[in-house]
Amino acid sequence: MYFNIKSNVYHVGNVDWEIEHYQGFKYSTHRGSSYNAYLIEEEKTVLIDTVSEPFTDVFIKNLKNKIDLKKIDYIVINHGEKDHTGALPELMSYIPDTPIYCTKNCVKSLKGQYHKDWNFVVVKSGDTLSLGKKELTFVEMPMLHWPDSMACYLSQDNILFSNDAFGQHYASSALYNDEVDQCELFIECLKYYANILTPYNKLVTRKINEILSMNLDIDMICTSHGVIWRDNPTQIVELYLKWAENYKENQITILYDTMWDATRLMAEAIAKGLIQEDSEVRVKLLHLSKKDKNDVISEVFKSKAILVGSPTVNKGVLTSLASIFELIKSLGFKEKQAASFGSYGWSGENIKVLNEKLKESGFELVNDGLKIAWTPDKEGIESCMNFGREFAKSTKF
Ligand SMILES: Cc1cc2nc3c(=O)[nH]c(=O)nc-3n(C[C@H](O)[C@H](O)[C@H](O)COP(=O)(O)O)c2cc1C
Ligand SMILES: [Fe+2]
Ligand SMILES: [Fe+2]
Repeated sequence: MYFNIKSNVYHVGNVDWEIEHYQGFKYSTHRGSSYNAYLIEEEKTVLIDTVSEPFTDVFIKNLKNKIDLKKIDYIVINHGEKDHTGALPELMSYIPDTPIYCTKNCVKSLKGQYHKDWNFVVVKSGDTLSLGKKELTFVEMPMLHWPDSMACYLSQDNILFSNDAFGQHYASSALYNDEVDQCELFIECLKYYANILTPYNKLVTRKINEILSMNLDIDMICTSHGVIWRDNPTQIVELYLKWAENYKENQITILYDTMWDATRLMAEAIAKGLIQEDSEVRVKLLHLSKKDKNDVISEVFKSKAILVGSPTVNKGVLTSLASIFELIKSLGFKEKQAASFGSYGWSGENIKVLNEKLKESGFELVNDGLKIAWTPDKEGIESCMNFGREFAKSTKF
């Protein structure tokens, strides 16, 4: 199926209702995803992006229903990642000489992945491609989120084809942002930003301001995943600007794991203390071994502060903590406060290990942490509650 989205512009991508994990197991896709590709039929015909490899056959069949493949004058590849280029080798086998417009870095990523010497035309920011009466203008978007990423803008129709930027992993029968469940949509937008774009906050701000300074009229933002933004399309741009400013809400998230529940009892008592001290703060408890790691990151993203808890295990901490820290560290969160806690039996290295991980992940330590031997008794629970109260005081907005 293809859909006319404006004048001679068509959505020719595919919805993936079944996908549960994306990029291997790096990113959970609870609500599926879509690979959006677009066809513009002006005097010249251009295909923007393709789809993920498993959808190759259905994509090409669909495209053939719409157009004789030989009529495609140009292919624009905004980003070389396989979810947008998986169908490209097969497509190129039908139209091997068709020029592929992309960035210099995209040539590298395509050659590196597919080992083909296609007819590449390297474009830079500001370069244009005439389609007859209308033209496409290219805007490089390095590191949003790969070195090869770019967007392009179609004049007169005022459409920004932004590729991964402003997208969400969200399968829907509807094409447009105003047609879907708004709660679901924005949960997926935030998860996408938190898990993919947080490391590039500064670049996001700079690039968006650069695009805004071009004073383009934007009627639609056509992303490569999820909905097309047509109702107040720049609302997602404004959200990105907000999220890029080391975003936080009045939330404290407690991340913990436990073997015999001692650390869980500590976590729950600390949560009680937090709420006693500050009735306004939203507190969430996340058992790391039971929660999806990308959902955990969404909660960390929204938090002004986090508390991390693990028992001592073989002089270290539970692997769920080590694992989430690998992810947290790589995302480079800034301006967030933190502290650690946990139970131990004899040597008690947990707090030292957790504090180290918090520091190297860029968190500001509010105190030295709290460790309790074995299962907390009444006094232990009281000291956890007090720890919570003090933490709430030090992290108040
Ligand atoms: C496999 C295993 C290894 C442990 N290694 C250590 C250790 O190296 N140092 C220590 O102080 N306690 C160690 N302990 C004791 C736990 O830290 C202690 O039982 C703690 O109360 C467990 O907290 P939890 O109920 O939150 O899992 C270990 C316990 C287990 C089961
Ligand atoms: Fe990507
Ligand atoms: Fe993508």
